[in-house]
Amino acid sequence: MSDKDQQLRVSKIQNGTVIDHIAGGQALNVLAILGIDGTSGDSVSVAMNMPSDRLGHKDVVKVEGRELSQDEVDVLSLIAPAATINIIRDYDVVEKGRVERPSVVEGVLECPNHNCITTENEPVDSRFAVGDDGVRCEYCDTIIRDDLPAHILAE
Ligand code: CTP
Ligand code: ZN
Repeated sequence: MSDKDQQLRVSKIQNGTVIDHIAGGQALNVLAILGIDGTSGDSVSVAMNMPSDRLGHKDVVKVEGRELSQDEVDVLSLIAPAATINIIRDYDVVEKGRVERPSVVEGVLECPNHNCITTENEPVDSRFAVGDDGVRCEYCDTIIRDDLPAHILAE
């Protein structure tokens, strides 16, 4: 295969959002954190471990027909701090941005404390304050430092 063929492995999209420069291997966690599981019918392409000058290997996620908001993509900073967000309209990149670290993430992570009010059968969404070395549950103060992807709530 020529280089060109390889570049065309994942085709361009007409309208939607391209999340680029995701650390290699994190694409499925990106989908989980965004609550994208394919049931809505949107076309979603995932490319994993593509060669990248900057990252060595990167993952790319393309969501067709949906422009993700800055709030939606900011939670990605927890697992994909180098991600680039490209909004595509009529095949053109009309906006290119980075994810920004939010001060709070809501309804995204599950508290590891089984006695926490957010893990019982109550309609209380989880809320974590984002710090420099981890995230802290705002209800029970439990801190998650490592392996955030393991704590992503399934939708
Ligand atoms: N892209 C796409 N469909 C389009 C336009 C762009 O899927 N219609 C994808 C490209 O494949 C790339 C990303 O969106 O993964 C950003 O596109 P572009 O800005 O053209 O690429 P680069 O200049 O390489 O981006 P960067 O500088 O952020 O690396
Ligand atoms: Zn808690």
